[in-house]
Amino acid sequence: MAASCAVAVGAPALAADAGPGAPGIGDEYFPGYGNGGYDVGHYDVQLRYQPDEDRLTGTTTVVAEPTQDLTSFHLDFALPPSSVKVNGRDAEFTQDGTELQVTPQDVLQAGSTATFVVEYSAVPSEEDGGETSPWIRTGDGALAVGQPRISAWWFPGNDHPRDKATFDISVAVPDGTQVVSNGVNTDTSTIGDWTTWKWRTTEPTATYLAFMAVGDYDISTREGAFGQQSITAYSTGLGELDGPARASVERTPEILEFLSGLLGEYPVESQGGLVAAEGLSFALENQTRPTYSPAFFRSGANTGVVVHENAHQWFGDSVSLDQWRDIWLNEGFASYAEWLWSEHEGTGTAQELFDHYYAEYPPDHSFWTITPGDPGRENLFDEAVYDRGAMAVHALRNVIGADALRDVVRAWVHSKRNSNGSVGEFIDLAEQRTGRQLDRFFDAWLYTPAKPEPGPDTGIPV
Ligand code: ARG
Ligand code: ZN
Repeated sequence: MAASCAVAVGAPALAADAGPGAPGIGDEYFPGYGNGGYDVGHYDVQLRYQPDEDRLTGTTTVVAEPTQDLTSFHLDFALPPSSVKVNGRDAEFTQDGTELQVTPQDVLQAGSTATFVVEYSAVPSEEDGGETSPWIRTGDGALAVGQPRISAWWFPGNDHPRDKATFDISVAVPDGTQVVSNGVNTDTSTIGDWTTWKWRTTEPTATYLAFMAVGDYDISTREGAFGQQSITAYSTGLGELDGPARASVERTPEILEFLSGLLGEYPVESQGGLVAAEGLSFALENQTRPTYSPAFFRSGANTGVVVHENAHQWFGDSVSLDQWRDIWLNEGFASYAEWLWSEHEGTGTAQELFDHYYAEYPPDHSFWTITPGDPGRENLFDEAVYDRGAMAVHALRNVIGADALRDVVRAWVHSKRNSNGSVGEFIDLAEQRTGRQLDRFFDAWLYTPAKPEPGPDTGIPV
């Protein structure tokens, strides 16, 4: 602090740089996502949900550490709050779309522990927050499952994978309805006509990977891999898809053993899966417990999707994206894990799958115009990110060798566990661990909008 700073004796020191926290965390594709000026450690989300009216009533406590002296800060939230308290005192707030700006009575000191308590009662499917609400209302309940964002429609937070936190999620629903979420089910108790389900995660979790499913589910707990419980849930409305869904998702423990053989220690504290009957058109790698659309099981058992979502527990959940541009680190590696599973199951080798895609798409096909290393926000989930992305991993194996790829991948997930990484950092690590200059390889596979040519630099046999 400057010597000339005039502060009355006994008054709290106010640093010269105290100011508002930024409304975004600095994501190139989504400048409004996340916020600046603080780091969340824990979310305590306490909800009551009435399916008939899609009415969500809640109190969320955010425990955060300011990283600068804050005169105001933002939370990402699409639902209108009824009150906001900061460190126990009422705070002023304004809301514009999903930006909730909060002005506490006192400046928040960098390095202190601050609590933000937000109370609300809303119908999430009716709140657009500037885009179509990603909240999914179903005939029997709701699904808070989405990517790249969903949390703003059920709790206020710092909604970006760069700020991960632990969660306590407690949801009261009419008796007879089930609630499934991340981690461990610490308690379920009924008072009157309402049953409260409590779920807890103890490993840092990105906001989009926190989920809840409310509805009629058949939930079972059994011994999973690594001495953990495996908790699976199947909608009671699955009909003829119930058999193939169970034949796939019940193999999760075996699949996690396979994946940990490739990638190292399973990074989270619980496991399982949830299959919804309606409302979901995709699967998502929700931390500890992925969620699946029933569509994946329409042609029978499908272990590929189970491998994919569980590979994300390492690539995406434990090691999270630095920003959404880095999506190849999630989808390329999760898709490549499916290829290795196929090889393990004897249904086609990784090289055969590579050759299939290489032959499938001629040079003038639009598949080659998307660059997995920077696909653009509208192409985050394009098949090129997945399939060209998996081809890139396989081609890297061809260039540096299977042992070196294994070494790079294991070093990556180990060194970045519970943290974040960018494609640039992955490339640096691959070059360090192999002692090789790999610019031509990565340029061809990740950054050039054209079909890579065969040759020693691209890992494609001539
Ligand atoms: N990460 C998910 C997966 O690869 C995809 C989610 C797609 N999201 C969406 N909103 N369509 O399984
Ligand atoms: Zn994926």
